[in-house]
Amino acid sequence: MAAISTLFLLFLIPIIPLSLLFILALIVRPKPIKIPIKSRHVFITGGSSGIGLALAQRAASEGARVSILARSATKLDEAKQTIKLATGVEVATYSADVRDYNDVSKAIDESGPIDVLIVNQGVFIAKELVNHSPEDVKFTIDVNLVGSFNVIKAALPAMKARRDRGPASISLVSSQAGQVGIYGYAAYSASKFGLQGLAQSLQQEVIADDIHVTLVFPPDTDTPGFEEEQKSRPEVTAIIAASSGSMKTEEVAKKAMDGIKAGKFTVSCNFEGFLLSLATTGMSPQRSFWLAFVEVITAGPIRFTALFFQWDWYNAIEKWSKAKNRK
Ligand SMILES: NC(=O)c1ccc[n+]([C@@H]2O[C@H](COP(=O)([O-])OP(=O)(O)OC[C@H]3O[C@@H](n4cnc5c(N)ncnc54)[C@H](OP(=O)(O)O)[C@@H]3O)[C@@H](O)[C@H]2O)c1
Repeated sequence: MAAISTLFLLFLIPIIPLSLLFILALIVRPKPIKIPIKSRHVFITGGSSGIGLALAQRAASEGARVSILARSATKLDEAKQTIKLATGVEVATYSADVRDYNDVSKAIDESGPIDVLIVNQGVFIAKELVNHSPEDVKFTIDVNLVGSFNVIKAALPAMKARRDRGPASISLVSSQAGQVGIYGYAAYSASKFGLQGLAQSLQQEVIADDIHVTLVFPPDTDTPGFEEEQKSRPEVTAIIAASSGSMKTEEVAKKAMDGIKAGKFTVSCNFEGFLLSLATTGMSPQRSFWLAFVEVITAGPIRFTALFFQWDWYNAIEKWSKAKNRK
């Protein structure tokens, strides 16, 4: 009798996870998709520098027709030369400020229908809110969030109207500070958290048009923008950000492009980012039932790890503040 019970238990052990996998395979939507890049029109905002430039170079080297948009015509020209030198491909450039809907709309109309839209422009000024001017706060929200709405709104009608050109993508470059609020990033985090709501709603609105939304969450990345930000970054921000390590621009661009091509909703760029995505996934769509399985079974331990990080960060803030008060 005991042997039968043991056998029954041994039989149950694999049955429980297998049943969970089976249920997830049935309920996880939307399903995985492949987004081709070759011979397609890839339009990248903020494509003249850092992550955007690396993405433009990658798309060009994979045989796409590439357009890049940013404000400075000089930086756009330099980027065009860099990409030409590296890949032999001539990219189209558009000088516009994403805060100006009419200018963005004109540039997008001129460039022609888009298959893969990468909304990557961004500004980041790390400062405690008490030291942030209202103008800086508005600037951050306007470029990172309102600007992203402007770009997507301008591109959407032609993307929705495209016929027989295969699945399309709208990708937004967020930040790990768009998954968790971090000391010194009140305005920046708010602007990037906003992208999560935009992306989740938009995905429901465009899924019937075979358009797939992707949110990319890079950690600190060695770009010109990051170098500039480091000059005024509060000490505590640097301590907290160090818990996720930093990455090379090309590595982030590769992760982002691979995620876009695989039609993933969430793209994390390193292991810490993967854990952060597990901890903050909430109501995000998940296209892979394998990843959904990992999310379900790790929910408890991941919440524990998240609480551990919060404990560590608040300790660091307390220590730093005590040391400052002693000076
Ligand atoms: N580097 C990091 O550590 C890091 C980490 C997480 C997330 N990110 C995100 O990754 C994205 C790219 O960052 P990056 O580090 O590559 O920055 P970057 O080197 O400073 O490049 C930013 C790009 O955005 C363009 N841009 C800025 N404001 C614009 C505006 N108002 N209208 C149109 N274009 C504008 C810039 O060109 P102009 O100045 O000529 O307009 C430039 O091409 C951003 O969304 C950023 O928030 C970066």
